Amino acid sequence: MKLGFIGTGKITSSVITGICNSSIKYNRIFVSSRNNKISKNLKKRFKKISIEKNNQKIIDSCSWIFLAVTPIVGKKILKDLKFRSNQTVISFISTITIPQLKKMIKVKSDIVRAIPLPPISLKKGPVPICPPNKKVKSFF
Ligand SMILES: NC(=O)c1ccc[n+]([C@@H]2O[C@H](COP(=O)([O-])OP(=O)(O)OC[C@H]3O[C@@H](n4cnc5c(N)ncnc54)[C@H](OP(=O)(O)O)[C@@H]3O)[C@@H](O)[C@H]2O)c1
Repeated sequence: MKLGFIGTGKITSSVITGICNSSIKYNRIFVSSRNNKISKNLKKRFKKISIEKNNQKIIDSCSWIFLAVTPIVGKKILKDLKFRSNQTVISFISTITIPQLKKMIKVKSDIVRAIPLPPISLKKGPVPICPPNKKVKSFF
């Protein structure tokens, strides 16, 4: 499984720390070069992390995509990105709803909102997930 993160800020850093200290099997994790400092730090700390400047390349390379930008950035960039219908898209973005995400993503991917909090770095939840999704639930 290849995991991609659009936006490498506080919550991406916590989620990746949790993944990399867990038994979750992944082939590679792609993170965006923004934020530069956080992405470099993650690459230094963990194996199989790639930093990618281009958000579309992250999406093209991965089966699961995590959206971890602020709502303002999400509204600006999501509509121009191309997703595939066989992808799972997990949005951490606080105020963009599922109907809005569906409109922006256009294809019929599995779209789920999840709200991990910083203790996810220690593999601690709970993590609200909406709509229910077995794969995403067992992942978290
Ligand atoms: N922090 C939490 O505990 C938490 C919990 C649940 C949900 N959330 C939600 O998750 C989202 C991210 O939160 P956060 O706390 O991680 O915010 P954050 O630390 O500000 O991270 C946002 C990241 O997006 C990057 N970014 C900006 N423009 C971009 C672009 N065009 N392409 C790719 N990346 C870009 C920023 O890079 P630069 O620094 O280079 O601008 C930054 O690294 C928000 O919607 C928030 O509501 C956060």
